[in-house]
Amino acid sequence: MLQGEYGEAKALAMKLLVAVGDIFEAKRMIKVKSVQVSGVSYKTIGEAGLEFLEDLCRKGAEATVKTTLNPAGMDLTEWRRMRVPSDFAQRQLRIISAFKSMRMDTTCTCIPYFVGNRPRFSESVAWAESSAISFANSVLGARTNREGGPTALASSITGRTPLHGLHLDENRRPTHIIQVQSELHNDLDFSLLGYALGRKLGSCVPFITGTSMERNFDYLKTLGASMATSGAIALYHIGGITAESRLIKESDLNFLERISVGRSELRFVKEELTSAEGPRHVCLGCPHCSKEELGTVAKLVDGRRLQRKLWCFTSRETCEEAEKLGYVSAIEGAGGMVVKDTCMVVSPLEKIGVNQVLTNSCKAAHYLPSLSRVRVALAPLEECVRFAVEGS
Ligand code: F3S
Repeated sequence: MLQGEYGEAKALAMKLLVAVGDIFEAKRMIKVKSVQVSGVSYKTIGEAGLEFLEDLCRKGAEATVKTTLNPAGMDLTEWRRMRVPSDFAQRQLRIISAFKSMRMDTTCTCIPYFVGNRPRFSESVAWAESSAISFANSVLGARTNREGGPTALASSITGRTPLHGLHLDENRRPTHIIQVQSELHNDLDFSLLGYALGRKLGSCVPFITGTSMERNFDYLKTLGASMATSGAIALYHIGGITAESRLIKESDLNFLERISVGRSELRFVKEELTSAEGPRHVCLGCPHCSKEELGTVAKLVDGRRLQRKLWCFTSRETCEEAEKLGYVSAIEGAGGMVVKDTCMVVSPLEKIGVNQVLTNSCKAAHYLPSLSRVRVALAPLEECVRFAVEGS
C-alpha cells in the first residue's frame, strides 16, 4: 500500500498511518473492524475540509471496512425546517456526497454503537469521536485510540491502524481509583462527574467506585463524553458495570493513587459551565438521544403544548425506531422537533437564531459558548423537558 501498488489514495493514507506509528513507536500495523469518522460538519471543517474530501474522492479513496460518520451540520433532509442557510446546506450536501462516493455509511451520529456499528469485546477499531471512543473502550471493551478525522479516514481506506496505546493490554489497566462521595441521581450528575474527572485527571484510566451505579447506557455515554471533553480520558472502568472490570483484580488496585470527588465538585462544574440566565430553547441529545431518552421525553410532553422550543438530536435510525413507537409524533405533536443527522454543537445554531439554551450535557455546555456564541444553562433531562412544557 505504502509503495502505491494499490493506488494513490491508499498510499497517502498509509503514509499518514506509518508516520503516526513512528511517533508512537508502534511495532506494526493491525487490522481494524470498523471506523468512525469525525469532521463531517461543514461548520467544523469548512471549505478546506470539503476540498480535501473531494480531492480524496478524485484519487480513488474508498472505505475497506465498515465506516460510519459523525453528525453533519444539519438534518440532511429537513434542513429547511431547521432554517439552515442554503449556502451552508449546499456545501454540507457536497461533503456527504463525497463520503458516499467513498462508500462510507452516511449514518451521521455519535452513537454508532446503537445503530449497527457496535464492536465486540477486544475487537480493534479506529474511531474518531471522543464520546463514542469512550463508550467503545469502556462499556463495550473494544479497543481504539483517540483518532483524529484524518487518521480515522486513513484507517477506513487501508483497514489498518498502528499498534499502540489502548490497543495494548498494558495501557488499559486502571491508573487511578476514583472514590465518588455522593450519590448520582440522574443523567446530569453523571455528566458533571465526567467533566470533573476529566479536568482533574487530564489523561489516565480511572477506576470509579463509591457510589451505587446501574448499567444505564445513557448515563455511561454522558459520563464518558464529559470526561473526554474536559480531559483526554478514553477509557474508564466501573466494577461490575464496564466490560473489562471483571478482569481487574483487587491486587491491581492496591498501589494506585486514590482521588475523591464529591457533591461540591459537581456543583462547582455546574456553576462554571452555566452562562445563560434566561434560556429560551431546550436542546437535548449530546451525545445523540437514545430511543429510551426519546421515550422519556415523549412521555413527559404527550398531549401538552410546549411553551419553549424543544429540539431532540438523534440519529436517523433511532428516529425511525422512535417513530414506530409513537415517540416522534408525541414530541412533534406538542410542538417539539426531533432533529436527525446533526447535533447542537456542530450545527450553525448561531445562524438560526438560537442564543440561549437549556441542556443536560456538559459537553454541549463546554463547546456552545465558544463555537456558536450560545449561552448555556444545565439541568437533568426531565427538568429540561418540564421547562419546555411550563416555560419557566
Ligand atoms: Fe455527539 Fe455532537 Fe455531542 S457529536 S457528543 S452530540 S457534540
